[in-house]
Amino acid sequence: MTDLSLSGPVPEEAEDGVWLACIECGETYAPFAKPTYECAACGSLLEVRYDEYHDFDGLTGDGVWRYADALPVGDGVSIDEGATPLYEAPSIETEVGVEDLRIKHEGMNPTGSFKDRGMTVGVQVADEIGVGRLACASTGNTSAALSAYGARAGKETLVLLPEGKVAAGKLAQASLHGATMLEVEGNFDDCLDIVSELADRGEVYLLNSLNPFRLEGQKTIGFEIIEQFRDQTGDLPDRIVLPVGNAGNTAALHKAFRELVESGELDQDEVPILTGVQAAGAAPLVEAVENDADAVERWPDVETRATAIRIGEPVNAPKALPAIRQTGGTAVAVSDDEITAAQRALAEDGIGVEPASAASVAGLRKLREDGTIGAEEQVVCLTTGHLLKDPDAAAAAGSDPQTVPKSVDAVLDAAGE
Ligand code: F0G
Repeated sequence: MTDLSLSGPVPEEAEDGVWLACIECGETYAPFAKPTYECAACGSLLEVRYDEYHDFDGLTGDGVWRYADALPVGDGVSIDEGATPLYEAPSIETEVGVEDLRIKHEGMNPTGSFKDRGMTVGVQVADEIGVGRLACASTGNTSAALSAYGARAGKETLVLLPEGKVAAGKLAQASLHGATMLEVEGNFDDCLDIVSELADRGEVYLLNSLNPFRLEGQKTIGFEIIEQFRDQTGDLPDRIVLPVGNAGNTAALHKAFRELVESGELDQDEVPILTGVQAAGAAPLVEAVENDADAVERWPDVETRATAIRIGEPVNAPKALPAIRQTGGTAVAVSDDEITAAQRALAEDGIGVEPASAASVAGLRKLREDGTIGAEEQVVCLTTGHLLKDPDAAAAAGSDPQTVPKSVDAVLDAAGE
């Protein structure tokens, strides 16, 4: 049975009060002795545990490392990640009809997505463990972040990408930061199968979200949302709506809130409801939630314009399903057209996001329409990546430029009086 309890004895494998624990069988592991991604005893997911969990008293600085006491290492390979804005979205708030809507825009991280939060921690741990080559499978953003943080750490990086399905901005980033880029004739899940096998053989250090240290960095999204929402409104959000691919963020946010309950910073009934959104063409987690299933079944064929979440097997489902169920949440699928409509609506509030990010707002709309989300709710939608990540999708969702002769009159004519 999944055990997400954070209290309990410190095992002898702990180093400086930090260890890894299997979420299924409870087996514990030393954190930095060697690369460890899954439980050697039962094959389940691992979670980082601590001898002590901290409330928000005495925090200084901002960004991911503001929460250094809650992280497995004291500092990281950093390019100032985190401290992303929590925007109001007045038009969408009115149109959708909720008490309060804020957009946590993770596209404002250094490489333009939330992945930077995981990499600042994960690449530092790679350094502590003393591994050489870093690697990931990616729909694009993970590869962009790993390439940048790997470069910063002076490490070789290998990224496996689904051929023809990665947005232009992300490819450009991996390319310029100097990763070895391999386009695999398959989808993301095929890439992850291959890179996991390479990690098992000791060829590479895996920095996908299977790596529990990455999720520790990503949990700071949850800490920031609580602090910022309180600062801005004096209250706490009722619900967080987020896009789901591998369900790493869903797991990481839940970890953040469990830690805050453990430290006394939040009461159990103050934990926000976690609500996941997938694209209809890649919705195995939604299927599992709807069927009340214990596990997700891999979708061998996936398709969506939101290429970042074009994923058939969310590897963090064993953490994410309890996250959704224990917080009273749900998961919903949205069509590509609903995603594009939400991308346009965000743009009208001045917020530029890539398609996968807009899925959160599309999901909010849908769940508000069917009454799952109430008019009295205070909601945060997570937008995970910047508009410029996928310039082709943005241009397709927006309007085309018009060509005019080089004269003032022609410009005025075309622009309208
Ligand atoms: N949004 C964006 C923009 C993403 O890039 C991803 C995942 C997700 C949402 C899903 O997040 O996996 O935590 O549920 N992108 C990965 C990548 C798969 O390779 O860049 P999740």
